[in-house]
Amino acid sequence: MEKRGWAVMRECLGVEDSLRLRSECEAGCREGAFRRAGVGKGTQRMIHEEIRRDEVLWLQASETSVEQAVYLAWLETLRLALNQRLFLGLFEFEGHFAIYSEGAFYKPHLDRHRGTGDRIVTAILYLNPNWAPGDGGELKLWTTSGEKEGAFELIEPRMGTLVCFLAGEFWHEVLPAHKTRMSVTGWFRDRNGLPGVPRYSASTGI
Ligand code: OGA
Ligand code: MN
Repeated sequence: MEKRGWAVMRECLGVEDSLRLRSECEAGCREGAFRRAGVGKGTQRMIHEEIRRDEVLWLQASETSVEQAVYLAWLETLRLALNQRLFLGLFEFEGHFAIYSEGAFYKPHLDRHRGTGDRIVTAILYLNPNWAPGDGGELKLWTTSGEKEGAFELIEPRMGTLVCFLAGEFWHEVLPAHKTRMSVTGWFRDRNGLPGVPRYSASTGI
């Protein structure tokens, strides 16, 4: 994160803990708790099938399960480390389970809403135990800050892999999934979310 503004960790969460989170995600799905994901914020929010086709279930602070608590504790350690090393002023985390069913994708985008600056770091944990090449659903992350072309990484959404990157700088997309693909996706936000406040940038290093 410090050098490039993005990072991938292969075994961030143990298999047992990841499997429990996956079971919870599956249970939410069975109960019909997932909703089609939207694009935009507040009153601007709309369902755009041509942009994204995943379904989401937001984590609720009032209903944190034991499974979620393990991961949230891990994220808290990450948050403090990022603040200490990079002075990001990360204040809180918001996140959701996401399910991409067969054929679902998410076209290239940045994770910061237009006119806001409050999502600073994206963190995604993948929950797909038997992911194999050919299953699709890779995260394509362009690795030059601000660019939607040139060098990129293709990140396999394997169980226990965590990817994080600066939310407003790195363009990314989810390639079409050929098998159901699950994750916990979320964002560390700063306290005020004011646009124009100087922030850590991968391109300038400040
Ligand atoms: C998102 C997103 C990527 C992924 O939800 O904003 O870009 O790999 N997800 O799930
Ligand atoms: Mn995104």
